[in-house]
Amino acid sequence: MKELILEAASGRSRIAIGSGAISGLSDAMAGRRALIVTDSNVGRLHSALFPQGAEVMGIGLGEESKTLETVESIYSRMLELELDRSSLIIGIGGGIVCDVAGYAATTYLRGMGLVLAPTTLLAQVDAAIGGKNGVNYKGYKNLVGTFRQPEAVLCDIRALRTLPTEEMRNGYAEVVKQAAIGDADAFAYLEERADEALRLQEDELERMVSDSAAIKAAIVQADEKEAGERMKLNYGHTIGHAIEKVAKVRHGEAVAAGMIAEADISVSKGMMERKDRERLSSLIGRLGLPVSVDADRELIIDAIRKDKKRRGGGIRMPVLDGIGKARIVDVTLEEMKDAIRDMP
Ligand SMILES: NC(=O)c1ccc[n+]([C@@H]2O[C@H](COP(=O)([O-])OP(=O)(O)OC[C@H]3O[C@@H](n4cnc5c(N)ncnc54)[C@H](O)[C@@H]3O)[C@@H](O)[C@H]2O)c1
Ligand SMILES: [Zn+2]
Repeated sequence: MKELILEAASGRSRIAIGSGAISGLSDAMAGRRALIVTDSNVGRLHSALFPQGAEVMGIGLGEESKTLETVESIYSRMLELELDRSSLIIGIGGGIVCDVAGYAATTYLRGMGLVLAPTTLLAQVDAAIGGKNGVNYKGYKNLVGTFRQPEAVLCDIRALRTLPTEEMRNGYAEVVKQAAIGDADAFAYLEERADEALRLQEDELERMVSDSAAIKAAIVQADEKEAGERMKLNYGHTIGHAIEKVAKVRHGEAVAAGMIAEADISVSKGMMERKDRERLSSLIGRLGLPVSVDADRELIIDAIRKDKKRRGGGIRMPVLDGIGKARIVDVTLEEMKDAIRDMP
C-alpha cells in the first residue's frame, strides 16, 4: 500500500493506493453516518466491498447522468436520511460518480465530509485526485462545479480487475500523459513494465497508479486553481479535445493522438528530440492506444480555432520539454495547423 498527502487551500487529502485499499472505508467513516453514491455497474460488481452500515444510492451511467438533476436526487436522499454536516458522502465508482458525489457533498449544507473510492484507472490517477468536481450543464462539460479536496481517496487496484479493456486504455492515456509531463523515471518504468501492467499484475499497477497520482497531486498542490502549473495536466488535450469532437473517438484515444501531434510541436520548436517523440509513440502503441485518428484534419483545425483558450493569433498551452517535463508556451495557429496536417 502506498500513501500520499495532498495539501491545498481547499483542504488536505490522504491518498492510499493498493490492493484492498477500499477496506479503509470503514475506518474513514469513523463512526459517522454515511451515504454511498455509486453506479449500477460498480454496485453490481463490487457491493461486497462496500462498508457496512452505510446507505447506498445508485446514479445513472454516462455523461448524461452527470447533471444537476442527479445532484438534486442525491440532495433528496440526504434530506430523507436527515444527514447533517457531520455526515459523510462516499463516492465509489468512476470519474462520473466521483464528480457528482464531490459536487453534492460540497454544496449540501455548504459542505459535508467526502471520501472517494475511485474504481476506474482514469478516476484513480486523474478524476478523484485534485479536488475538482462538477457536472455538465446544457451540453457544456463540467460547466458547474467547485474546488474541494476529499478527505481521503482510496484507490483499490483490485477493483480494476473487472474494468473493461477499453476503460483501462482510457486511463492509460492519462497515465502516459502524467509521466510525460512530470516524471521521466515513471515514464521509463512504464516502458519497462507495460506488458505486466496490461496483464493486470498488481505490483506494477500499484506503482504506476501511485506514480501517476503523485505527479498529479504535486502539480495540484503547487497550483490548485489552475493559474499556471496545473495547466500542464492539459497536455495532449488541446488537440485531443478537438479530435474528440470531430472523430467521435473515446477520450483516451483522442488524447493519445493529441499527445503525438503536440509532441511534434515540441520537436519543431526544438524543445524535444525526435527520438523522445518516438519513445512516446511507441509506448502509446504498446498500451493499445492510437497515435493518430482517421478524421478530417481541417475539421480538427476548425474545432481548435473555436477553442476558448485561443488568444490573438496563438494558443497558450503546455508542450513537452523532453520526456518528464512540460512548459506552458504560446503556439501559433500556423504551428498548430502544421502539426495537425502532418498527423501520422
Ligand atoms: N474532476 C476531475 O479533475 C476530472 C478529471 C478527469 C476526468 N474527470 C471526469 O471523469 C469522467 C470520466 O470518468 P471515467 O472514465 O471513470 O468514466 P465513468 O465514471 O463513466 O466509468 C466508466 C465505466 O466503467 C464502469 N466502471 C467503473 N468502475 C468499474 C469497475 N471497477 N469494473 C467495471 N466497470 C467499472 C462505469 O460504470 C462506467 O460504465 C468524465 O466525466 C470526466 O469529465 C474529472
Ligand atoms: Zn483527459
